[in-house]
Amino acid sequence: MKNDPGESRNRQRSRAALPPLPRPEAAQAPSPATRPAVARVIIRPARPDDLEEATLLERRVWGRLAATLNELQRRLFALPEAFLLAELQRAGRPRQIVGLANGLLWTRDFPRSYLDYERMLPSSSHNPRGDVLYLASVGVDPALRGRGIGLRLVQEVVEVGRRRHLKLTRLIANGRSRILWARAGFEVVRPLRRLFRQYRDLMPQPVLMELPLL
Ligand SMILES: CC(C)(COP(=O)(O)OP(=O)(O)OC[C@H]1O[C@@H](n2cnc3c(N)ncnc32)[C@H](O)[C@@H]1OP(=O)(O)O)[C@@H](O)C(=O)NCCC(=O)NCCS
Repeated sequence: MKNDPGESRNRQRSRAALPPLPRPEAAQAPSPATRPAVARVIIRPARPDDLEEATLLERRVWGRLAATLNELQRRLFALPEAFLLAELQRAGRPRQIVGLANGLLWTRDFPRSYLDYERMLPSSSHNPRGDVLYLASVGVDPALRGRGIGLRLVQEVVEVGRRRHLKLTRLIANGRSRILWARAGFEVVRPLRRLFRQYRDLMPQPVLMELPLL
């Protein structure tokens, strides 16, 4: 799918405005010959005391479609291992949450209609007996996009599903994020044209995507 040109420009701007971050492998495998990393992003499970900061990030990413603090608390309570954060660590500066991913369990026949889904909170759709990992939210701070953080979050949350022996990972993607999902191996199941009609600025061209985990 073609990228939104405005979005690409923003991505280029954000790349230019920030000092380069080291590649994740370099940050994780320091050698005595290399200089210590001045900045790195780690992916880690969220804790309850992260959620206020995570809610602020969720708002920066999703605007009026953002989950509330209460909703994020419910998601963390429902499936803590699938609530991951990307944390930016810089020498001499406070750690900062710059990305998040969270998921819930669904049964395969859920929801019967995605319009029903839009009317309820994702946390209330969690079914502990489900074998589908539904990714409710994936987002990266606009200032740090295009540096591989989104892909790392997605790959790690998919691993959580594999470790739990779930059957598939499912999500509703938008036209802009489809490249990311394709990179992570997801395929389009079908468009959901009637979903998010009032949020087309945030969710253009919604599509159902899936990745089998077995
Ligand atoms: C989608 C999102 C999470 C991607 O995060 P990110 O850290 O920028 O993603 P990455 O840097 O890991 O990019 C992974 C791949 O997708 C591409 N990509 C990601 N977002 C893109 C965008 N908005 N436009 C064009 N390409 C994009 C990247 O170029 C990269 O491909 P490459 O390896 O060929 O360069 C981030 O843009 C975001 O938070 N968007 C708003 C919320 C959203 O749409 N979430 C998805 C749920 S539907």
